[in-house]
Amino acid sequence: MDGNGRWAEARGLPRAAGHRAGVDALRRVVDACPEFGIEHLTVYSFSTENWARPTAEINALFDLLRLFVNRDLRRLHEAGVRIRILGSRTGLSDDILELIDKSTTLTAQNNRFHLNIAFNYGGRTELVTAFQALARRVEAGELSADEIDETTISQAIWSAGTPDPDLIIRTSGEFRLSNFLLWSSAYSELVFPDAWWPDFDRDHLAAALASYQARTRRFGGLQK
Ligand code: IPE
Ligand code: MG
Repeated sequence: MDGNGRWAEARGLPRAAGHRAGVDALRRVVDACPEFGIEHLTVYSFSTENWARPTAEINALFDLLRLFVNRDLRRLHEAGVRIRILGSRTGLSDDILELIDKSTTLTAQNNRFHLNIAFNYGGRTELVTAFQALARRVEAGELSADEIDETTISQAIWSAGTPDPDLIIRTSGEFRLSNFLLWSSAYSELVFPDAWWPDFDRDHLAAALASYQARTRRFGGLQK
């Protein structure tokens, strides 16, 4: 969800206003997903690298999660949305941890739509954490080194249980993954719309999906 800052700067607004507009865009996109048959959505909301930003900016990004959970949790729960937060708990304040636990617990039994929020997330940290967990199981004699395979790793990462993304959309014209879903994105299709995230709407989503539909996915095989 990139481009909040540029969206705000282009309007002479503080960056935090861009982040707030970004929450509105997230709400629009989540609401539009069922129409397209999308059942899983993972959004990149705060990366482990975002700690390098000034404190005020970090606080504005944390406020986004507060705003989203406080304003939308009840409504999403009633709509059958399961919310999971993918990321490290390290460095997060108690109130943020409480919001994470509240959203996760309240919606744990829902299965109409799966919304994953990558928050304090980094793809390499996700893998390090998974490999450490597997190594601990090897040390404890529960697992042999040879039993570590793609399945056990997929089950040990934060996004375990979420299918690999078919499509990854990065807004605002940047052509990078920036440490997003490094393991699961192996065969994802990528689109890089120019739109800044706060401007991203149902029509941008439809365009990204049309681009996806026009592609042939071979997964390393030959075209049938
Ligand atoms: C995305 O917008 C906010 C997140 C960290 C998810 P940015 O804050 O990166 O906006 P730009 O890149 O400065 O426009
Ligand atoms: Mg950015």
